Amino acid sequence: MSAIQPPAQLVWWKQPIHKDELFWIVIAFVWCLVMFFMMPYWHVYGKQNLSSETYRVKPALFQKAAEEMVAKHTVRTETDEKVPVVHPPAGSDVFLIARLWAWWPILELEQGKTYRLHLTAMDYQHGFSLQPENINIQVLPGYEHVVTITPNRAGTYAILCNEFCGIGHHKMVSKLYVK
Ligand code: CUA
Repeated sequence: MSAIQPPAQLVWWKQPIHKDELFWIVIAFVWCLVMFFMMPYWHVYGKQNLSSETYRVKPALFQKAAEEMVAKHTVRTETDEKVPVVHPPAGSDVFLIARLWAWWPILELEQGKTYRLHLTAMDYQHGFSLQPENINIQVLPGYEHVVTITPNRAGTYAILCNEFCGIGHHKMVSKLYVK
């Protein structure tokens, strides 16, 4: 049979199925089922889901809460922009603002303590990416993500913006300290 001439057997789709082909169809089908059931299974038992809640929020109210935290718990400032480094009490609500093109403030948390991390954006969509843990959360204006976190390793983590947000996107990096 060539691509130019019609096939010898014109009704080619009514042939009995070859056992090799059947074999591969069965394998593919079983694998589809495995993946299909893994999705709900892993959602429930995989321990990969963020313990997050989402609310609507007015940017001004969120900013006020963040400013109160900064006013009370700033321990030093960093970089030329004098970004406050905040060491909030263990177990408290901590606030992180995303805006063009910075994260504010810098948080310093304690290892083994649980915090409620509140995230929002002041202007456009940003992406909270915590590295090297690879935790990723979309940060949207008007919405507040509250993530319950317990840092289990001390160190300096990087926070990157992973949603393209304009000309300064690549500069939208910050740190998270865990002591
Ligand atoms: Cu913010 Cu990209």
